[in-house]
Amino acid sequence: MISQYQESLLLPERMFQSGSMDTTYEDVLEHIDSGIMLFDEEGMLTFVNRQMYGMLELTRHSLVGCTMSDLLSNVQLGRFKKKHLLRSYREMVLKGKQCYEFMDEYGRYWRISLFCGEQMRGYYLFTVKEISDFKLIEQTAYQNDSLAMLGKLSASIAHEIRNPLTAIRGFIQLLHPYLHQLGKEEYAKIILAEIDRANDIIHEFLSSSKPSVPQVTMIPVSALLKEVVLLAESEALMKGTQINLHPLHEDMVISGDIKQMKQVVLNMIRNAMEAITERVDDFSGRIEIGARREGGEVRIFISDNGKGMDICTLDRLFKPFFTTKENGTGLGLSVSDRIVKNHGGCISVSSRLNEGTRFTITLPLIQ
Ligand SMILES: Nc1ncnc2c1ncn2[C@@H]1O[C@H](COP(=O)(O)OP(=O)(O)O)[C@@H](O)[C@H]1O
Ligand SMILES: [Mg+2]
Repeated sequence: MISQYQESLLLPERMFQSGSMDTTYEDVLEHIDSGIMLFDEEGMLTFVNRQMYGMLELTRHSLVGCTMSDLLSNVQLGRFKKKHLLRSYREMVLKGKQCYEFMDEYGRYWRISLFCGEQMRGYYLFTVKEISDFKLIEQTAYQNDSLAMLGKLSASIAHEIRNPLTAIRGFIQLLHPYLHQLGKEEYAKIILAEIDRANDIIHEFLSSSKPSVPQVTMIPVSALLKEVVLLAESEALMKGTQINLHPLHEDMVISGDIKQMKQVVLNMIRNAMEAITERVDDFSGRIEIGARREGGEVRIFISDNGKGMDICTLDRLFKPFFTTKENGTGLGLSVSDRIVKNHGGCISVSSRLNEGTRFTITLPLIQ
């Protein structure tokens, strides 16, 4: 079957009869966004447009009158171009495929197509077109589709796992006194702790895949930070870390879900405490928290003098399930990022290995 595109290229009937091309068609072919090369029934190149000789980095003059094998042995033709021209020739002329796609040395995608057969009256038409945009859309659509599928599937698996875990937890508690008698109480404790950890992961995962509807209220930034620091202070003190809340110089109010905003700041303080514990040298752990106005926005910062991050960690920080901790879930920051984005804000981070990390949450202020 012949495509519409092929048919439109077949229009210049005179082209085949007289060998001279109608100038209108020639103009069209000259300005088309594909590279075009036409070989006659003897295998001689009779027409090449500007796009094509530009791509090949050769002159029109050096191409017209050549055969494919002349072209392939042209010393001025780049090695990479030669390789793909030869492959496309093999795939399409010898194996009969309709097109050949490849990626060039700069990461751009190209498609070479061949039109020949009865309707072309023995002529061979090669067209080359850049298809990077199309490939990008294709890849993104494919990724989104599989991510959405994966998300749905994992959410339902996570949900299903919760029920047996609850049953196991209940039975272990019933067995507790017997294990105690056997002197194996430790086992029950380990099982319970591990079940609780599994439950935490599932809880965080489900809340990240299905965030609850935000209950929007006015939140004074100073009150938010005070409350969160109060929640984290005792845990920090136990770990020998000092939390220093900088006094705010003005009243700033944001609008949002207080529970979610607390979760974000608490996540970051927990990460800071963990980064401090993981730092191996002798030092005293400190977490600085504060906020300042920048135009119509507030910048809340949480900085620590913990172990810091290398570039690989920084790159993957907000990806779901990315963790460097043995007992981490890798969900804290991805959930926080989602919450802050839902509130019209963003999170930025700067870090130095073995020196510390600073997270900044930027949120719009209510004027
Ligand atoms: N303040 C910090 N200092 C150093 N590394 C951090 C800090 N906050 C986060 N990270 C890194 O980011 C990773 C992901 O954090 P998060 O999403 O909260 O998951 P989790 O805490 O469960 O590992 C952590 O495992 C850690 O490597
Ligand atoms: Mg965390």
